[in-house]
Amino acid sequence: MPHYVASLRPYVAGRSTEEVKQTYGLSHVVKLASNENPLGPSPLALEQMRSVLDHLHLYPTGLDLRKHLADRFGTKIENVITGSGSEGIMANIVRTFLCDEDEALTSEGTFIGFEVLARGRGIPFRTVPLRADYHIDLPALAAAINERTKLIYLANPNNPTGTIFTKQEFDAFYRHVPERVLIILDEAYFEYAKDNARYPDSMFYRYDNVITLRTFSKIYGLAGVRIGYGFAHEELIANLMKVKLPFEPSMLGNAAGIGAIEDREFLHRSLESNARVMRRLRDQLLQIGFQPVSSDANFLMIPIASAEEAQRLTQSLVERGVIIRYLANFGLPNCVRLTIGTDEENEFLIDTMKQVLVNA
Ligand SMILES: Cc1ncc(COP(=O)(O)O)c(C=O)c1O
Repeated sequence: MPHYVASLRPYVAGRSTEEVKQTYGLSHVVKLASNENPLGPSPLALEQMRSVLDHLHLYPTGLDLRKHLADRFGTKIENVITGSGSEGIMANIVRTFLCDEDEALTSEGTFIGFEVLARGRGIPFRTVPLRADYHIDLPALAAAINERTKLIYLANPNNPTGTIFTKQEFDAFYRHVPERVLIILDEAYFEYAKDNARYPDSMFYRYDNVITLRTFSKIYGLAGVRIGYGFAHEELIANLMKVKLPFEPSMLGNAAGIGAIEDREFLHRSLESNARVMRRLRDQLLQIGFQPVSSDANFLMIPIASAEEAQRLTQSLVERGVIIRYLANFGLPNCVRLTIGTDEENEFLIDTMKQVLVNA
């Protein structure tokens, strides 16, 4: 067993509603821990998936989500890759580009999926601290690049902070990145941020060493199908295509993506609901004494006075049927993250938080 695999800790997913119901003897549980879309899956994605059910005995060929994505985003099919979630594409990036002598670089307090994949390949991973305001510190990352740095992973908006770095900040950072260094821009939450004029939608400026990753898991409500996509220079994509599993993504994943990308109605409904409930939740949290960090995504992070209190809040909420995410595994032991739910889920969350605070 390679030592870097033996020493890995497996990914711990959020607790499921069924498990929490059973453990605490509850009949009503809401899960606000995994940044899933509370409105369910895109109806057009479901329709497309139903249309392929009778063909699932066949290997997935013919249905080309890549072509649909190229048309939708005004690029060539040679610049598009799809995979089993954006994490599936990250796994391909690790296999395709990282060699033994390379290092990867990212921020603390960010999505750990890429780090787990890189460590699973024995790639040293260096991080720089978040800024005091929980934003990714791009100047510190630029200063940390060395001759072994092969890849920089940046999530924008960042999970779990919900913060973004701006066009100006990214442009200044990019000038310091040598051409040989690949940058992954993980835009899993870009739909929630794209109307913010300061947000650098990476499709508007293509750099040869930038790979954009996006997903159908979040705004399109398709986390269970495992379908994501990415854009990059055709040479990078051509090499990723050599390494990718031949029949990934699945026929259902392809169909779901083709349906979802046309589902403007669901996209707008999801954005509207998220913005409305997030505004309300923010106000309610401020009223009861919390200071959530401003978010451009579908979740809010709250710094708590201490790690013990953050852990206690998470535990007290789950015992009453609200699953939130305690962020020790993200390197933020005094923070919790709340996914934006429906209006009803949000009222249940706030009522339960008030109960917990009274009892404390
Ligand atoms: C920043 C970020 N990237 C990627 C993912 C995983 O996305 P996918 O379901 O497409 O693998 C997540 C999921 O939480 C995420 O927060």
